[in-house]
Amino acid sequence: MRIFPAPLLPFLALLISLPIVVSLCSRNRAVIFNFGDSNSDTGGLTAGLGLEAGYPYGRAFFRRPTGRASDGRLVIDFLCEYLDTHYLSPYLDSLEPDFTNGVNFAVCGVATLPKYVSFNLNIQLLQFKRFRNHSLELHSKGITNFFGEEDFKNALYTIDIGQNDLSGSFGALSYAQVIEKIPSFISEIKEAMWAIYLLGGRNFWVHNTGPLGCLPRELAIRDNLNGSDFDEYGCIKSLNDGAKAFNAKLNALCQELRSQMENSTIVYVDIYSIKHDLIANSTSYGFKNPLMACCGYGGAPYNYDPDFDKTCLGTGYTVCEKGIPYISWDGIHYTEAANAIVASKIISTHYSSPPLEFNFFCNSFGISSI
Ligand SMILES: *[C@@H]1O[C@H](CO)[C@@H](O)[C@H](O)[C@H]1NC(C)=O
Ligand SMILES: *[C@@H]1O[C@H](CO)[C@@H](O)[C@H](O)[C@H]1NC(C)=O
Ligand SMILES: *[C@@H]1O[C@H](CO)[C@@H](O)[C@H](O)[C@H]1NC(C)=O
Ligand SMILES: *[C@@H]1O[C@H](CO)[C@@H](O)[C@H](O)[C@H]1NC(C)=O
Repeated sequence: MRIFPAPLLPFLALLISLPIVVSLCSRNRAVIFNFGDSNSDTGGLTAGLGLEAGYPYGRAFFRRPTGRASDGRLVIDFLCEYLDTHYLSPYLDSLEPDFTNGVNFAVCGVATLPKYVSFNLNIQLLQFKRFRNHSLELHSKGITNFFGEEDFKNALYTIDIGQNDLSGSFGALSYAQVIEKIPSFISEIKEAMWAIYLLGGRNFWVHNTGPLGCLPRELAIRDNLNGSDFDEYGCIKSLNDGAKAFNAKLNALCQELRSQMENSTIVYVDIYSIKHDLIANSTSYGFKNPLMACCGYGGAPYNYDPDFDKTCLGTGYTVCEKGIPYISWDGIHYTEAANAIVASKIISTHYSSPPLEFNFFCNSFGISSI
């Protein structure tokens, strides 16, 4: 893994070398606590359960599997690069974790519900509470590698969860029943954000969920769909509508919390629009076959076989040639090439409300923006 040294450059040197984007966290380290699922798991599942998807996972960047559900970097990795800070270590990593810039609690496959199931959102929060207590204790003993109250206050809390709640629900319930369950997912996110706030966290960065109905897996596992079930891009309308319904409630939650959480900054990022644009306008981004997995089984149209044994790395799977740009890596997760574009759109601020820079929280340290 490419590990960046802790940002040590003096502020002026950064001004000269990076005239457009200055990592305002340079004088005071940027600290991120991330909560979520495979969209931002940098190795948590692998560390926790010892399960690791083998090569070609990781082939595009790390050149080895890292526990990331992609051929390379995830959006969270690109966001860390933007801050000039190293990638987040998974909380569960027992081998040389580096928590100096925060902790990644995200784990592949998790959801908001049910509670007390590893490693769903409330477990991630319990882990955070334990980490915080222990960190404060060590910090008070003068071990400055760990965080004090101010660090927890100035840190950024990033949340990207809900996709598995939706895909799990759509696998078992009717559309109306899924829509009915959405408030219970949002309520878990609300509880998590309040818990963080009451422990002193003030800066939140919330990703909404992507167009579920455009994932090759969701398309391939349903054989009872007909023309009217698809939108003009070939995605499943009801699943995308479900994602949009979830996002509307998540956006409303962020608005509600902004008015209730004094001194907080809550940025809501419309990942759905970014990913939907990527799929709908895939050719203008240089991608072919936006609904087909690079790594999978069965070829066109989705290269995904509903038989779990035949997915990427399963019996007889195939993988696209390196360098051929695909959006979907394995039918569920995006490729590094797609993640890079998603991250650049996030950084553009055009999809954020309010439209703050991703490094806005570095301003808590008292250095004004240029
Ligand atoms: C953290 O510490 C507080 C006060 O010492 C204690 O009440 C709380 O139970 C601790 N929480 C965890 C998760 O250890
Ligand atoms: C196909 O669509 C029609 C019209 O919406 C519907 O009545 C029919 O049940 C659908 N067929 C299947 C197999 O879902
Ligand atoms: C909000 O910020 C002000 C000014 O720094 C401070 O006095 C106040 O205690 C803060 N309130 C909360 C709830 O953080
Ligand atoms: C595709 O690109 C066009 C032109 O930039 C844009 O207006 C449109 O909204 C995009 N489609 C989607 C689904 O985002």
